[in-house]
Amino acid sequence: MRAAVLGASQGMGRAVARRLAQRGDQVFVLGIEPEQLEKSAKDLEVISGQPVGWVECDLLRPETFGPALDRAEEALGGLDTVVITAAIFASQERLEEDTELLRNMLLANFTNTVLLCEEVRRRLLARGGGTLCVFSSVAGDRGRKPVVLYGATKGGLSKYLEGLDHRFRSQGLVTICVKPGFVKTGMTAGLKPPPFAGEPEDVARRVVRAIDRGKPLIYVPPPWRFVMMIIRCLPRFVMRRIKF
Ligand SMILES: NC(=O)c1ccc[n+]([C@@H]2O[C@H](COP(=O)([O-])OP(=O)(O)OC[C@H]3O[C@@H](n4cnc5c(N)ncnc54)[C@H](OP(=O)(O)O)[C@@H]3O)[C@@H](O)[C@H]2O)c1
Repeated sequence: MRAAVLGASQGMGRAVARRLAQRGDQVFVLGIEPEQLEKSAKDLEVISGQPVGWVECDLLRPETFGPALDRAEEALGGLDTVVITAAIFASQERLEEDTELLRNMLLANFTNTVLLCEEVRRRLLARGGGTLCVFSSVAGDRGRKPVVLYGATKGGLSKYLEGLDHRFRSQGLVTICVKPGFVKTGMTAGLKPPPFAGEPEDVARRVVRAIDRGKPLIYVPPPWRFVMMIIRCLPRFVMRRIKF
């Protein structure tokens, strides 16, 4: 498999890129920090024993999307799979206070992620198909007090990914929506892990298996599927009272 990964410098993106490299897939990394990208590419080279390229691609600068995908396609001789784990997270309180941060989060996590997915969609369909695997969140499954704003971006993204899979699966484009619950990464550093908190390596194993099988939706770790099933059933007067 020839895969480009946006978000491979850290957390779950890094774990997915490493897992792909371990089993001999060709990987190309996209991200914002040249130093981090170079480090990530070197690490993947050691794991895979093959050259790994990198290029800047910033979710806040949509003009970087086309050139970044061009570079990835050139380096790999085509693309079969694109994995997007990159996103911006901040607490509800910070987002309510900081309009600039809110604007960037809304842009990066929804509008620009969709623009990037659309660019990927056109390219993969032009070559007969491929897989687009994007990280959303359980935060998008229900309007919840601690994640009103972040959750809204992920809710919109999840719906987009579901529609994309329905529309283009028959033409060869497989769309996979990953919904992590709580996973121990830089994004959740400092937060108290709840029950069923996951590790990036376990998530990566499940995500790569979902890519191989073309599964359109996965909750990671798996118990979050049942947690969110219950949360989705709760009446609004309960949602207004609980902290979750
Ligand atoms: N961790 C959780 O519990 C959890 C729960 C639900 C959903 N998720 C979702 O799962 C995905 C992965 O989360 P994670 O915990 O692995 O995150 P993470 O460890 O914080 O990594 C985030 C990645 O996004 C990149 N990034 C940030 N801003 C970017 C931008 N403007 N353009 C391009 N790349 C950018 C970062 O690059 P740099 O390293 O260069 O900053 C980093 O590689 C995210 O979509 C997140 O919303 C996570």
